[in-house]
Amino acid sequence: MNDEKYIGVFDSGIGGLTVVKSIMDIMPDENIVYYGDTAHVPYGNRSKGQIINYVNDDILFLQKFNLKAIVIACNTADSIAREYAENKFDLPFFGVVEPASAEAAITTRNGKIGVIATNATVNSRAYENAIGRINKELTVISKACPLLVPLVENNRFKKNDSVIETVLNEYLEPLKAEKIDTLVLGCTHYPLLYDLISDIMPGTKIISSSVVAANALKKGMIELGLYGGNVSAQRKFYVSDNPELFGSKASTFLGSDMKVSVKHISEID
Ligand code: DGL
Repeated sequence: MNDEKYIGVFDSGIGGLTVVKSIMDIMPDENIVYYGDTAHVPYGNRSKGQIINYVNDDILFLQKFNLKAIVIACNTADSIAREYAENKFDLPFFGVVEPASAEAAITTRNGKIGVIATNATVNSRAYENAIGRINKELTVISKACPLLVPLVENNRFKKNDSVIETVLNEYLEPLKAEKIDTLVLGCTHYPLLYDLISDIMPGTKIISSSVVAANALKKGMIELGLYGGNVSAQRKFYVSDNPELFGSKASTFLGSDMKVSVKHISEID
């Protein structure tokens, strides 16, 4: 029965909770099991082989639950290991890169799309390829922003914080110079920077991969006959390191006062 099954969601750490928030907003009745591989965050500075190994382990862990689908709530993992996951595991996979690319392609008016993401995502050219498949005429200008994930993880994402503002201004300057009219937040940590980025790039349409990923998930689940939840939906959260630290930050990413009970992967029930 679909209503007893879980949507498995994973990320390298806590950023994927921005996707969970969007899923809960539009599909409040779906069971969700989240896995944050906090022992290995960040993925964004690692090699392709290492990211694939981690993604393999993330999926093996989630498969301990009765799943209907898996959401790769990490742009880095989706960019590098999506094909590997789909070839190896017999489950429907949903990601973040394709929905954000589709949204950017229909949003831009001048044909210039900026993407900010981790080193690994930018080097993979996943966004260039996905947007190019939709419309070859569009120009994609990507900028790796490796300092943003550690700053967000350390709570440095608020307005009037001179450190994050300085770093963001430096990263966004070349995209402003290229006169992009649409900017993809190509990392699930970045929705927390939405307001700061809007202030730096007024008039630019900003696309959060988290929101569009949840919309695409719902559409895809309906198409596959997987949609259908439970009024008392279950939410489970697991991490590979330091559940207390994850729990203390979770409400910021979930955008609510929701307190979550977080377990270590060894405490699976
Ligand atoms: N959340 C990851 C992403 O969306 C970034 C964090 C990391 O580097 O592991 O790309």
